[in-house]
Amino acid sequence: MLPLTTPEPGADTVPGGFGLYVHWPFCASKCPYCDFNSHVREGVDQARWRAALVREMDHVAARVPAGRRLSSIFFGGGTPSLMPPETVAALLERADHHWGVGPDVEVTLEANPTSSEAARFAGFRAAGVNRLSMGIQALNDADLKVLGRKHSAPEAMAAIAMAKGVFDRFSFDLIYARPGQTVAAWQAELSRALDLAVGHLSLYQLTIEEGTQFHTLHQRGDLVVPDEDLAGDLYEATQILLNQAGMPAYEVSNHARPGQESRHNLVYWRYGDYVGIGPGAHGRLTLDGRKIATRTHRAPEIWLQRVEEGGTGAHADEFVTPEQRGREALMMGLRLAEGVSLSRLTAEAGGANPVDMGAVDRLARHGLLTLDGDRLTATAEGRQRLNGVLAALLG
Ligand SMILES: C[S@@+](CC[C@H](N)C(=O)[O-])C[C@H]1O[C@@H](n2cnc3c(N)ncnc32)[C@H](O)[C@@H]1O
Ligand code: SF4
Repeated sequence: MLPLTTPEPGADTVPGGFGLYVHWPFCASKCPYCDFNSHVREGVDQARWRAALVREMDHVAARVPAGRRLSSIFFGGGTPSLMPPETVAALLERADHHWGVGPDVEVTLEANPTSSEAARFAGFRAAGVNRLSMGIQALNDADLKVLGRKHSAPEAMAAIAMAKGVFDRFSFDLIYARPGQTVAAWQAELSRALDLAVGHLSLYQLTIEEGTQFHTLHQRGDLVVPDEDLAGDLYEATQILLNQAGMPAYEVSNHARPGQESRHNLVYWRYGDYVGIGPGAHGRLTLDGRKIATRTHRAPEIWLQRVEEGGTGAHADEFVTPEQRGREALMMGLRLAEGVSLSRLTAEAGGANPVDMGAVDRLARHGLLTLDGDRLTATAEGRQRLNGVLAALLG
């Protein structure tokens, strides 16, 4: 078992920690592969959006039991680096008012590397952001163009250099298994990425999501992506290089030097609680021992109107049954190299182990899982085939 290099925060009351997620739904343009809740809009009324996000935070905070301690805050999107730093500052002040945001709280903002956004980095730092996660996606202009990105490779380099000058904790994303990509080309690009990285890298395999432009092109045969074998080879090459560089995968697509893991994402994967505000944000809250799933309206304008009328853009709460809790905690936990404890799964599931132990034996014999005492862990190969592993474990 890998050591738990980023320990769970001790002072909170629910295992896994407590996070706050803020969704900013706007982008300068829509990337052809992306199915995130992101929209292109002319003239966002910044004062209205700032007031609405603060108001929704107040609304949820009134429901959160006293004594919860935040371990992290994450501004995600969309493109939160398009937010005015004053909006970020207002939200952090409000979070501090509700929960106390000490220096140990990780505050991450997702950024796109165009020059206009990079110019705001110091403003975000001054507002209280202490970690930046940048969507670089590729380190060459030809692939950036295929991915429909608006930045160039030199702009990406300049933004990385600027981010490193402002933030101690910094990560960037690359997408691999791109059309026409070879293992050798990816290895060369990863070596360059490792030279540029500080302590964290997110390396996502391109997925063709329904409803995206890439999906239409792919269906028509106009976009050809690496087949399963080549995608597997690219994944393996990634693991080898990143292990050698001292940045092993701590999650399916996320690599870090020990201690540099994203604390916010660990809250999700360790099945902690999190407040989600902004359009399309999800949350999980433990209230009186019951787990509640929250979800807000995805359409920005409808969300805004609902918040202005009633304080929140949330749909009705959904109760997460103990059976679902066991399943969700397993699905999250097996993404992590540290794995998940069977006793925790059993507690989430209300006393019944949700895992088919016969399937554990079979998958372990195939090298996809390990069981060490109470701790169930997917191997690197198991994490690559996680959907199949989960289907077998959950019956
Ligand atoms: C919410 S997005 C983006 C943040 C920021 N707007 C950006 O694009 O730089 C988070 C990350 O998900 C990844 N991503 C989005 N769609 C993807 C897809 N279809 N396949 C693989 N990775 C994807 C990208 O690496 C992206 O940086
Ligand atoms: S990948 Fe990022 S910039 Fe592109 S549409 Fe999605 S959220 Fe917006």
